[in-house]
Amino acid sequence: MVTTWKDIENLYQQHLTSLYPADEIKALFLIVLEEIAGINAAKYIVEKTNSVDNYSEQLTSILQELSSGRPLQHILGKADFYGEKFEVNVHTLIPRPETEELVHLIINDYKNKKELKVIDVGTGSGCIPITLKKHLNQSEVWAVDISKEALEVAKRNANSLNQHIQFILADILEWEFIFSEPQNFDIIVSNPPYITPKEMTEMHANVLHHEPHTALFVEESAPLIFYDYIADFANQHLSEHGTLYFEINQYLSLQTAELIRKKGFRTVEIFKDINGVDRMIRAKRK
Ligand SMILES: C[S@@+](CC[C@H](N)C(=O)[O-])C[C@H]1O[C@@H](n2cnc3c(N)ncnc32)[C@H](O)[C@@H]1O
Repeated sequence: MVTTWKDIENLYQQHLTSLYPADEIKALFLIVLEEIAGINAAKYIVEKTNSVDNYSEQLTSILQELSSGRPLQHILGKADFYGEKFEVNVHTLIPRPETEELVHLIINDYKNKKELKVIDVGTGSGCIPITLKKHLNQSEVWAVDISKEALEVAKRNANSLNQHIQFILADILEWEFIFSEPQNFDIIVSNPPYITPKEMTEMHANVLHHEPHTALFVEESAPLIFYDYIADFANQHLSEHGTLYFEINQYLSLQTAELIRKKGFRTVEIFKDINGVDRMIRAKRK
């Protein structure tokens, strides 16, 4: 009996139904199809009843891995971010669409400026600094992370996307030791860990079991610790007219904005993401 692309899609739907909603399974299947066989969504509509020929084994082996809860980006070793492919692995957060929105906000704010000095705190795969370096004219871009393994991935991404980034292995909770002189950054950006243990129950098993906990979680008793320290870092190293950008926990947006105001930032704005929840903060001293 001939196995068609549609048969394989049905197999994906059957086996992944306990893990993902049907539309997400379809989206995953289409990514696999494009990646493995070079068949995009439009071509699939026309060719879905064609035979899968030699691809059956590869497609079912990916299905097996997906069934174990492994994220597709880890299976393929890459994730899409702002139109580019970034290497990811178990040491890096898989870049999220919300973070693309944060990067988009910065690019819009600064696209007509030149020679900016930028730093990303908690860089993971390097998706934020590499994208900013690519889209902001002649900028000098730095990136910090506490994870040596994540920085190795970020460096490979910077190399393969041809962007020069200065990487620093450091703990932002000990930021006083990172630079000996004030740096005058125009932009300080961070998507720090912000999920509290209480929120774990809301999380998908494949995030909980496969993504690095140092990238995701903060203690219940100090959920804003990173915002607190990064705002202090910004008070020392942000230029007078510079901007501090954060991705934030939707449930703590008002507290986060209040904390940043208390640190002396007079203009603090909260932005919603595409899902309509509070997700970003932009702060200036003036
Ligand atoms: C939410 S992830 C963000 C990763 C990436 N910027 C992104 O948006 O996909 C947070 C990152 O902060 C890093 N991190 C956690 N604690 C840190 C610390 N004390 N100092 C510096 N980086 C830290 C983690 O290793 C992780 O890469």
